Amino acid sequence: ASVLMVASEGLPFVKTGGLADVIGSLPGALADQGNEVKVVLPLYRKIAEKYMNDLYFCCEYTVSINYHEVPVRIWSTMVGPVAFFFVQHQGYFERDSLYGYDDDGERFAYFQKAVIEMFNQLNYWPNIVHCHDWQTAMIPCMVRETHDHDDRYRRLKFVLTLHNMAYQGNFGPEMLDSCLGLPWYLLDNGNVRYDGGISFLKSGILYSDKVTTVSPTYAQEILTPQFGEHLEMVLNMRKYDLWGIVNGIDLSVWNPATDPAIPHHYNKVNLKANKAKDKADLQRELGLEVNPNVMLVGVVSRLTWQKGFYLLMEQLSALAAAPIQLAILGSGEAKIEDAFRNMENEHKGKVCFYRGYNEDLAHRIYAGSDLFLMPSLFEPCGISQLCSMRYGTLPLVRETGGLKDTVTPYNEYDKSGNGFSFSSYNANELMHTLYYAADVYYNRKADWETLQTNAMNTDVSWAKSAATYNQLYNELVNR
Ligand code: ADP
Ligand code: GLC
Repeated sequence: ASVLMVASEGLPFVKTGGLADVIGSLPGALADQGNEVKVVLPLYRKIAEKYMNDLYFCCEYTVSINYHEVPVRIWSTMVGPVAFFFVQHQGYFERDSLYGYDDDGERFAYFQKAVIEMFNQLNYWPNIVHCHDWQTAMIPCMVRETHDHDDRYRRLKFVLTLHNMAYQGNFGPEMLDSCLGLPWYLLDNGNVRYDGGISFLKSGILYSDKVTTVSPTYAQEILTPQFGEHLEMVLNMRKYDLWGIVNGIDLSVWNPATDPAIPHHYNKVNLKANKAKDKADLQRELGLEVNPNVMLVGVVSRLTWQKGFYLLMEQLSALAAAPIQLAILGSGEAKIEDAFRNMENEHKGKVCFYRGYNEDLAHRIYAGSDLFLMPSLFEPCGISQLCSMRYGTLPLVRETGGLKDTVTPYNEYDKSGNGFSFSSYNANELMHTLYYAADVYYNRKADWETLQTNAMNTDVSWAKSAATYNQLYNELVNR
């Protein structure tokens, strides 16, 4: 099929989270299976600063926002077999951050309108328009409600992938007319209405031909009030068109045998010697005591409630007393940052909190740690645990969403498993599991090594899931 992915971030251009990993790697895997895949992103300042000279100009036109004609410029470049388009508007996108502005609704309404008109301007008509998250979720509704008289638009099929139900793009009702150019009856009939205003995500769930999310377990969870974030009823209406397809990672980027960000390369065979060197270097880099014999626990994460850090914060003193070192990379909520900063100050040499976003350091933490901690409250899929397994670092996770689908807990009888997990969102269970992992690390070395091999043997590639997306596309194309 020919597919256009519409997204708000994607590697190698910009990244704030796992969505960018997916947009940077799934298109290539789909191309390998014979699809023609293109991607369109906003032209953020970060991209403009770094890549402007590599982009070629495609076309310019205007779209109507707040009853004004606003200019759009489309730029493009190739990354391997995948063409990337960029929507340029300096005022909307060339800012410090990607998201978090008062006019986010307007910014992404503009982006989506620009994409819809781009088909016409470039005379490019893919079979499938594959939208990701709320920033792109209004497209199916806008096309169906305002372009249905045009056969070229009517033939487009829409897939929406839900990467996180907690972010929905809910805005006031005025946006419907002024920015989206949609008729008021959509508010009255409930199609886009949410809590008196409008919801991008809800409308995407209702208008897309297929809805997917990023793991089978999360696909089940979001049908319940506990995970549905108030859209469980809407999701239940679409449950026969809702597929859970687990994410993969790009094995050429995440490869301890070639990774340019890590000092010592290794594979399953020379893991022991070289991973230990990466660990020592990491301890030195982060100001931790250089000690090969202590279990080094890594965290690489957005520091938000989703990731389970409030659980960890209930047990900070127990954590500090545990026979481990802790290396935390991330930034986010002030409360969580403060807790980790204090912990570092009180336990210098044992705990390091590196506040910020640092891709190379993330790679070195995946490589140099023994255990990777990810006790999420909810986790649609999770990319980090996949990366850690690839580097022979055992994930310790809570059994939710994609963590449940990708991490198999250690079984001490048949030595199977690729990590550790606990089920209740309960700090004692977390600590118990951490001590259990430490026991295996210190006292059952052979088992630990088996688990490391199992983790590195786990298929975290896109191959299987790309085939499933392929099947989904084919169902739509042949409909
Ligand atoms: P989410 O998308 O919810 O943040 P994922 O596990 O799906 O969680 O993806 C997170 C991605 O972002 C991973 O590739 C991880 O390595 C990366 N990441 C998260 N925080 C940081 C950070 N502070 N520095 C570098 N990379 C980070
Ligand atoms: C979201 C989710 C994360 C998932 C990522 C990519 O950010 O929080 O679990 O891995 O999207 O699908």
